[in-house]
Parts: sequence; structure tokens; C-alpha cells
Amino acid sequence: MADYSEEISIRNLSVVFPSRKKDITAVKKVSLDIRKGEVFGIVGTSGAGKSTLLRTINLLQRPTQGNVIIHGEDLTTLNGEALRRFRKNIGMIFQQFNLINSKTVYDNIAFVMQVVGKTKEEISRRVPEVLELVGLSDRADSYPAKLSGGEKQRVGIARALANNPYILLCDEPTSALDLENTNAILKLIKEINQTLGITTVIISHEINVIKKICHRVAVMTDGEIIELDDVFNVFSAPKHDYTKSLVSHTFDLELPAQTLHGEDFKTLKVLYSGDKANESVLSDATEKFKVKINILQGKIEYISGKPFGMLIVQLNGTPEIISNAENYLRARTYNVTDV
Ligand SMILES: Nc1ncnc2c1ncn2[C@@H]1O[C@H](COP(=O)(O)OP(=O)(O)OP(=O)(O)O)[C@@H](O)[C@H]1O
Ligand SMILES: [Mg+2]
Repeated sequence: MADYSEEISIRNLSVVFPSRKKDITAVKKVSLDIRKGEVFGIVGTSGAGKSTLLRTINLLQRPTQGNVIIHGEDLTTLNGEALRRFRKNIGMIFQQFNLINSKTVYDNIAFVMQVVGKTKEEISRRVPEVLELVGLSDRADSYPAKLSGGEKQRVGIARALANNPYILLCDEPTSALDLENTNAILKLIKEINQTLGITTVIISHEINVIKKICHRVAVMTDGEIIELDDVFNVFSAPKHDYTKSLVSHTFDLELPAQTLHGEDFKTLKVLYSGDKANESVLSDATEKFKVKINILQGKIEYISGKPFGMLIVQLNGTPEIISNAENYLRARTYNVTDV
């Protein structure tokens, strides 16, 4: 098989929902390449068109205009049986799990294999395999109602993998879960991506989810992609105002107002990334400008394994000293803003 390093190519894709009052353009001329084996995130406001865009990747949603090309095949040209056959390559999981409540865990998974014509033998071999993969070997005979949310999503993942897809689409897979289950499911999705090399597209409105498992992320508002880059770059240098506000929540601050500004001191938020994650900047500033620096708060996040830090520092001294020290910090760190 040819080596497609761009596994999914979306070209000039629009989705318009006709409506009697005013047509809704849910996706506006989006072009985007998703690489083989990556975890690609889509983040954005509610109603931005994330789900609609994701659903065009397996043509659950037909685009009004544009193309979806997977492994060189333009999905929009496929219909009926050919489309059904192609869809086997693409697994999908959902926020509300979408399990069939009247079927056991085993039968929920077996069902999607029957639909594509797998034999009983193939099914009885594969179902235990995928159940083991998601850590639910002992729940084959349970009904969904007896499972926790985290377990339900594991079944959803097992079902999505049953037909050996090379693409996994995830629409808000952790939004119905508590923090502990969210982390466990994200870890599982990441492991599956790494061990099976499955190209994964994940939607979330939570930047923390994206930060934990994605390699690259597209930021979507109002049907358009306004920013697309490595997660680390989007985090450390957000360009669009929406992205900036999204990222700033990572470093939410709660400091009493009187500690922030005074006659002989100034409080700043200093961000530093990977290579500049270096305490010596502060001690160098102290030495050079005779400024006194108090660290009020500090936090280091790891994004794609690289450190990204935030310090809230209070500079003490004359206005001139403070201004010199501030300029120095600005030059040597990633970003400096007033608090
Ligand atoms: N089947 C449909 N018919 C008509 N309008 C639709 C349909 N599906 C989505 N829309 C509209 O398209 C826009 C984008 O919806 P979409 O569900 O893709 O957004 P989203 O980014 O996934 O939002 P959320 O974060 O709330 O899930 C919205 O205005 C929505 O109301
Ligand atoms: Mg959605």
C-alpha cells in the first residue's frame, strides 16, 4: 500500500444546513491535512461546527461542497455499498457512548462486525481481543446499564476498534465523565494511538484534554479554522484572541488585589517555554538591576512532554529599577504581561 503521510485531506469543505429562515453554514471552506498516526485535536466554542466537520470524515455528514480524501480515495464520490465498505476503516466514539442498551457488551461489539459481514468465528475471536485491549475482559456479559460511564466509553472504544480501523474519530469522548475517568480514557486513547498507530481525531471544548494527548490542534470558531499548529506552539504562543482566552484559563489566578500593584512594586505574569524554563533569569535580573523579586505563584505544565511555565512575580524597587527589570524579563522569557 502507498505510504500516505497525510492520511486525511479535507479540501475546501463546507456544510450548509438549509433552513426556512436562514441557512446555517456550519463549516466554511475548511482545508486541512491530518497526518498518519497523529492525534489531531479540534477545539472550539459550542456550535462552532466541530461535530459537523468530524462527521464529514466518515461521511455521516455529506459536505455541501469540497472533498474528503482518505488514502487517496475521495469519499464524496462513494455511495451505498462502496461507502459502507470504506467506513470499516474508520471507527468512531461519542460523548454519550451510543451503546445499545438491550444488548450485552459482547453483542454491542459483535453487532458492528455482523453489519460488515464478519463470520461468527471472526467475531468470537475478535471481541475478546478488543475487550482485553480496553481492560474489560470480565464484562462481556454485562448490560450497559450495569456499567459506569468510564466502562461504557471503554465499550465504545472496543466497538470502534472491532473492525480494525486505521482512523479513530472521537467526538467529545470524555465530556460525560468525571475527572478520574476522563484521565483514564485519555490515557487509553493515547495508548491505542501509540500501540496500533491509529490516526486519531478528537474534538473537545476543553483545552486540557487537547493538551494531554494531541500532537496538533485546530481551533475552530464560527465554522472556520482560525489557528492550527503543534499543541505546544498554540499553547505557548496563541495568535487569535479566542485561542488566547482559551489558553489563559490554564493559568487561572486568584490573588488578592492589594498584592498586585503599589507605589514601589509591580506584579507581572511571566511565561516561559521549554528552553527558557530557567530560574536563572530571575537571579540574573536581581543581580543586574538590584531589583527585589518575590515569587507569588508558580506553575509548570507539560505540553507534549515539554515544560511550559508560569510565574507570578512581584518586582520591588524604584520605578526605573522596575521598568529595567521588566524589560529584561521581557527579552529573556516567553511573554510578560501585567496581572
Ligand atoms: N442536522 C443539523 N441540522 C441543522 N443544523 C445543524 C445540524 N447539525 C448541526 N447544526 C448547526 O450547525 C452548527 C454547528 O453545529 P455542530 O454540532 O457541528 O457544533 P459543535 O462545534 O460540535 O458544537 P458543540 O460543542 O455544542 O457540540 C450549529 O449552529 C448547529 O445548530
Ligand atoms: Mg459537537
